[in-house]
Amino acid sequence: MSDKLLRLKKNVILRNMCAETSFLSDQLIQPIFISEKVSDKKSIPGLGDNFVFNIQDALKQIENDLKNDCRNFLLFLIPSEKKELDFNLNFQSEAISQVKNFFKDDIFLWADVCLCSMTTHGHCCVFDKSQNIDIKKSLSSLSKTAVTYADAGIDGIAPSDMMDGRTNKIRLALDENNYDLIPIMSYSSKFASNFYGPFRDAADSTPSFGDRKHYQLDYRNKNDALRASTRCAEEGADLLMVKPGLYSLDLIQPINNLTGLMVGAYQVSGEYAGINLASENNLLELNKGLFESWHVMKRAGAQFIITYGARKSKELGFSVK
Ligand code: PBG
Repeated sequence: MSDKLLRLKKNVILRNMCAETSFLSDQLIQPIFISEKVSDKKSIPGLGDNFVFNIQDALKQIENDLKNDCRNFLLFLIPSEKKELDFNLNFQSEAISQVKNFFKDDIFLWADVCLCSMTTHGHCCVFDKSQNIDIKKSLSSLSKTAVTYADAGIDGIAPSDMMDGRTNKIRLALDENNYDLIPIMSYSSKFASNFYGPFRDAADSTPSFGDRKHYQLDYRNKNDALRASTRCAEEGADLLMVKPGLYSLDLIQPINNLTGLMVGAYQVSGEYAGINLASENNLLELNKGLFESWHVMKRAGAQFIITYGARKSKELGFSVK
């Protein structure tokens, strides 16, 4: 008997018939950066056709993306005023309500909820006088931000700060304000990674001192990462996420098995930039490289993927249906 894996690979129709993973474009989420500080759209080194927009230009970009079947977005909102506490959320509210009023339910709009683009020091939390994390004030600032975004019309909340207990606090705050149908997509297993560089440049959120290792996960530890996601599930997260996605493939299926919740993967800025810059140097073809990386995350069990290339889904042959 000849045992041949080649047999099912020789014909394209047969290969497609046997493909285990495929995509709907709605399973790809496109990040959009909107800043109070930019007048003309600003490029983001490494991220190709991603820019930091003012509100008007963001509307144009989303309109264009819709033509390409890309209609699931994650907003990063960057106000010009930085504070230590009592954050001013006016710009963020304005941006969300303009986007939602313009596109209504033609899009699904998530917002990243974190403090790092609002704090003077660029960390994701509020500090007390001795520079320790003030967990109470951090959580109340985060839940206030989530409720304000909900008031402005956001469809879903994505907390990315990694403070203990944030999912619970945000869920309670949303429920108390009659936003019990707004889902929480928690950045549940998020590592202190070296691959967030292009993002921090865009989001103006590089810490002015130290790093994020005292609140984000240590990439050497698997158990901690599983526990972080399990806890988010217990606290009421609707969807979980690993980040950086390609460097967390080993966690996706175990988290799903432990929690029964769907797990997404965030192909972060540094991971995307690696593929993008290789393509700019003719070392690979961008679309083919992205296509492969997304399928690999799907194969590892990811239900959805946040990627700076989501707007290419139609070009790559995914359908919304
Ligand atoms: C905010 C946040 C970060 C990212 C998403 N939300 C940066 C960080 O935690 O330092 C990174 C996303 C990317 O690199 O694409 N806390």
